[in-house]
Amino acid sequence: MSQAVKIAPSILSADFAKLGEELRAIDEAGCDYIHVDVMDGHFVPNITIGPAVVKAMRPHTQKPFDVHLMIDPVDPYIEAFAEAGSDIITVHVEAGHHIDRSLQLIRSLGKKAGISLNPATPADTVEYVMDKVDLILVMSVNPGFGGQAFLTSQLEKIKRLRAMIGDRDIELEVDGGVTAKNAPDVIAAGADVLVAGSAVFDAGDYAANIAAIRG
Ligand code: DX5
Ligand code: ZN
Repeated sequence: MSQAVKIAPSILSADFAKLGEELRAIDEAGCDYIHVDVMDGHFVPNITIGPAVVKAMRPHTQKPFDVHLMIDPVDPYIEAFAEAGSDIITVHVEAGHHIDRSLQLIRSLGKKAGISLNPATPADTVEYVMDKVDLILVMSVNPGFGGQAFLTSQLEKIKRLRAMIGDRDIELEVDGGVTAKNAPDVIAAGADVLVAGSAVFDAGDYAANIAAIRG
């Protein structure tokens, strides 16, 4: 199981003044996806980047862009993020009123569709869109900032979602407070993609940090 886990460094913890260089560094360090946190100052209490920055990052790596949209409304911006070079586009179940439609829109643009759940949101909110998602993203912190502590309450939710996924072709991603120390518990609960911001970028060597989380 630990062999198969994918690591998605969150560029939220990178040096925004040298994003191209940072992308090349995590690519060479062996990451699987590039996790891109998009925040609007409304759905979450922070503002980050938009489609123009995603487009500017695109030539610097061939690795899939795993774009996590923490924005509400989300539908008016999905096409711009698709055109900018996203590979996976993830929307929050709590954002907007018609998530089924948002997921259909993402797939109609030829992209993989993800759905994310905030820590207080129950697992079964995704039950009736399981046929429209390629990835489920469990937030293990309240979204908005990197560097927060992992909420252990989410381990139970990860287990439940793993059981709900069964043999469907859906990736189960966990985002927030993931470290080399708690990664084995997160993987054991059923995650197959781990997002890591501060644990990759804050100190030391990116390759060693990614390898340590991968286990
Ligand atoms: C939080 C973001 C996460 C975060 C992860 O809103 O969605 O991707 O940047 O950072 P760490 O790993 O530092 O918790
Ligand atoms: Zn994220």
